[in-house]
Amino acid sequence: MSQEKLWGGRFSQPTDKFVEEFTASIQFDQRLYRYDIQGSIAHCRMLAKQGIITNDEADVIVAGLREILAEIERGEFEFSIAREDIHMNVEARLIEKVGPVGGKLHTARSRNDQVALDVRLYLRDEVDAIAAALVALQKALLGQAERNLEVIMPGYTHLQTAQPILFAHHMLAYVEMFARDAGRLDDLRKRLNVLPLGAGALAGTTFPIDREWVAAELGFSGVTRNSLDSVSDRDFAIEFCAFAALLMMHLSRLAEELVLWSSADFMFIDLSDGFCTGSSIMPQKKNPDVPELVRGKTGRVYGNLIALLTLMKSLPLAYNKDMQEDKEPLFDTIDTVRGSLKVFAEMIAQMTVNAASMRQAAARGFSTATDVADYLVRKGLPFRQAHEVVGKTVRYCVETGKDIPELSLEEFRQFSKKIEADIFDAVTLEASVNARRATGGTARTAVEQEIARARAALN
Ligand code: ARG
Repeated sequence: MSQEKLWGGRFSQPTDKFVEEFTASIQFDQRLYRYDIQGSIAHCRMLAKQGIITNDEADVIVAGLREILAEIERGEFEFSIAREDIHMNVEARLIEKVGPVGGKLHTARSRNDQVALDVRLYLRDEVDAIAAALVALQKALLGQAERNLEVIMPGYTHLQTAQPILFAHHMLAYVEMFARDAGRLDDLRKRLNVLPLGAGALAGTTFPIDREWVAAELGFSGVTRNSLDSVSDRDFAIEFCAFAALLMMHLSRLAEELVLWSSADFMFIDLSDGFCTGSSIMPQKKNPDVPELVRGKTGRVYGNLIALLTLMKSLPLAYNKDMQEDKEPLFDTIDTVRGSLKVFAEMIAQMTVNAASMRQAAARGFSTATDVADYLVRKGLPFRQAHEVVGKTVRYCVETGKDIPELSLEEFRQFSKKIEADIFDAVTLEASVNARRATGGTARTAVEQEIARARAALN
């Protein structure tokens, strides 16, 4: 019988070596060590406060736990597969260090409520770090908007030139997306931030514990209300992965645009060399690897969400070993999101904008056709008729190889006698952009207003 096992009592044969490794989680849950120890210290203090263990015993246990934390941080701790997971690695080491009194720590607790606690504590810190990284990315986008307020680019629908817009307006679209992501993160944090400890294995505990005290000690806003749910709820991990899937979707859209914009066909932007690589065969190449990779990593984050949903599907109450499988998808999602946000914030901050190519592209493709139609509407024509008139004008432009602003007044008037000399003021790029003044539009005034709002919200 195995002496290493904290649960060895009822077993007469040692665990098969391969099974031991197969069922262990220490290989990946060791990253929870700080939270495991933090939770144990709070639990231990509560046990003493409630008279379940003595203050002296608590002091010995807490000192032992602090030493273990230091051992791990110095890289001296030997994580053991035989000790299965982070909880038993820490506890077994505690008993090794302080003797049998260490065995009192696990009073009124189970690994089932312990692991739920550890993951919540860990994820709460990660959520806060990711919230800060989201702010940094939004600030980088906002910085680009502020520095390039004059820059006009083509706005697209169907990736066909549609109407001229401010480049700043385009940046602000992403600020909005990431603000929604930040809102979702904030929202899921509320449900995450409750204490599951005290649920025991599944039914609660026979000891007179004080869950509210532990919750306050660990900065939770309250305690979970049902022991079965406390040990078997992984909604918080799934919600986080759903948040992450949406965030990565947004990043992938920005990534795709950066890839397009940095191509020789667009030449709208330059990504700084630090975020690109060359080709081993084509000397001219500067590849936008970072946005491409983030675009690609979106797939694994979606996969992690589906993995967690599928993992939890149809599981009977309460804890099941299946749930140990929640960690790798969650950890991978956290790492991927943090890495992607970090690299994007820097890359966006350093990106340079090629105003001339953007302007040239904005002027192509009859981008001010809608402005001619709106002009006719202002002169009293119903919009549908105006649309028809401009459609014919564009066809004429295509046939003669001219662009709308290049037409003479006589040419314009072939299509409508309502057109007068002031048409030329309506079809410049600036006029087109600045005419869209309603809240949320691309006019300089509207964009400046939204920049100010976003700045205020981020500071
Ligand atoms: N390593 C386990 C996990 O991550 C901890 C909980 C184990 N509980 C149990 N009864 N085997 O889920």
